[in-house]
Amino acid sequence: MCGIVGYIGSQNGVDVIVEGLSRLEYRGYDSAGLCLKDESGNLVQFKKAGKIENLKKVLSSQAKEILNSSLVIGHTRWATHGGVTDFNAHPHGNDIVNVVHNGIIENATELRNELETEGYEFKSETDSEVFLVLTTKFKKEGNDIFESVRKAFGLITGNSAFVVMEQSSNSIVAVKRGAPLVCGTNNANGELFVSSDPYALVGYADELYFPDDEVFVFLNQKDAKKIEFFAKDGEPSTLFLKQTQSMDLEVSDKGAFDHYMIKEIHEQPDLINAFMNYYFHGSGKAILDKISELDAKRIHIAACGTAWHAGLVIKDFIEKYIRITCTVDLASEFRYRDPLIFPSDIGLFISQSGETADTLAAQELCKEAGLPCVSIINTEGSTIYRNCDLNLLIKAGTEVGVASTKAFTLQCLTGYLASRRLETDDVSIYKSQLELLQKRIQEVISREQEIKDIASAIFEKRGFLYTGRGMFYPIALEGALKLKEIAYVHAEGYAAGELKHGPIALIDENMVNVALVGPALYEKTRSNIEEVKARKGVIVTVGPANDKDLEKLSDYYFGVNFEGLEDLSPLLVNVFTQLLSYYIAREKGTDIDKPRNLAKSVTVE
Ligand code: M6R
Repeated sequence: MCGIVGYIGSQNGVDVIVEGLSRLEYRGYDSAGLCLKDESGNLVQFKKAGKIENLKKVLSSQAKEILNSSLVIGHTRWATHGGVTDFNAHPHGNDIVNVVHNGIIENATELRNELETEGYEFKSETDSEVFLVLTTKFKKEGNDIFESVRKAFGLITGNSAFVVMEQSSNSIVAVKRGAPLVCGTNNANGELFVSSDPYALVGYADELYFPDDEVFVFLNQKDAKKIEFFAKDGEPSTLFLKQTQSMDLEVSDKGAFDHYMIKEIHEQPDLINAFMNYYFHGSGKAILDKISELDAKRIHIAACGTAWHAGLVIKDFIEKYIRITCTVDLASEFRYRDPLIFPSDIGLFISQSGETADTLAAQELCKEAGLPCVSIINTEGSTIYRNCDLNLLIKAGTEVGVASTKAFTLQCLTGYLASRRLETDDVSIYKSQLELLQKRIQEVISREQEIKDIASAIFEKRGFLYTGRGMFYPIALEGALKLKEIAYVHAEGYAAGELKHGPIALIDENMVNVALVGPALYEKTRSNIEEVKARKGVIVTVGPANDKDLEKLSDYYFGVNFEGLEDLSPLLVNVFTQLLSYYIAREKGTDIDKPRNLAKSVTVE
């Protein structure tokens, strides 16, 4: 993870970098820092543990002239090696070289031991500092910065991107392997940029360059209009993709809401509207048509976290409606289990950010095996988007809250439409179904106070078991994940029928069972609730409206109207679990939009 950014140009580089880091904070917020070249040509660092706000406070206490620099690199961290401390914050540097790093150096321990034996000292616990020490060592041996970075990069293993600046020249060198990196130019102003994500460069760079792995990028202040690319052997390289910047800056604020998460939950009904316009009347329709023309023997879904849960829902849609075998893998497992994939299959990758390292690796594996690659994706222009042959956009807008909410709903709906035969079926049926879902979600949201009351009554319980059957099972997994990540309480999702095979041992008066009861398999799910009740578990049920029997059985009951929703019913229940997690987290007083230890985009394995 981590966000890296670098700037050379005539503006005040510190402002550009701080703005870039703010836009990259979704990649991690354990610490932030920057290194600038001051008027006397010295490298000066500012860095602080915690969110970018902490770095800004440090910067605001400095005299303006100190911060005036035309050459700056910056970093926002998601900790991998070493605790969340000022020392471990990037940049890592000395008087000669400063480095920011995104990724993991897998052989860091080995290299560090060797360097320590040679007498080199380390200030931090990070793997990144190994790269700094190596680069510095090669510089001291008389190599120029390009050669030093090239030699250091040749020694490390793992997926990483580095941005390096040195004291003795006005240049930045960047390189990556298996991690995102983009460079940009603003030709009118003679400015050069480098970043983990083109979004950091919106409004700054008008031309973008995406270098291939192991292509060295050279940004030189002397010729500030040019970025140069070199291969490992030092020869000029053409292995990069040039694009005109087409992204807009999505100005997103919380409006009247206390958190982005709750705002994003509330946005869902309106987004379903926009989604329908896109797929029924807009350019989405043509992409759906192309998808239905693909003829596959099997479909392999790979995704992570919430997107994987959406994959489980979508698998059911695909197998039910298209009748093609569909596998769903956690992307982090898929790539290492030597999956049986053939060019006659399709790879389907679900991702909000389009940058998740494991999902990207799964996609690359499928591509190498000759499978057509399709994404269900939110971020247009992201790496997975660029790599796939066809992209089904979910049209969720920017999702700021680390806990994915609206993206899940729209991922499932995209999968739903993609698995129906829109070209031959009566589309009005789907339209009315989506409109109905939209209305029902609005009804659940309007009963927020009831959910808040349930949250206040149960938030101190020891643990939470979410249970469901059929398509409600992925919703149980998703509900539990949401609660864990934002409320920091232990929660697990189970297929309701599995409780008796082990987890039922956990049930006592301090354990909550959030039972998700759909219209299908009603009696069986009801019996599972009885089993929990018999063991004094606290029962929160979301089930069919006006079900007196279920209400009596439960400690807290939230009835919803499933009528007419058919296979979209689980998505309605999911909105209840989103709100329940949110209000439990509020009771706990956690940092809901930026929960501890997490990042919005997970770009390490
Ligand atoms: O950007 P992606 O959809 O690929 O992200 C996948 C997961 O990292 C993500 O869904 C994560 O599990 C969320 N924080 C869950 O709310």
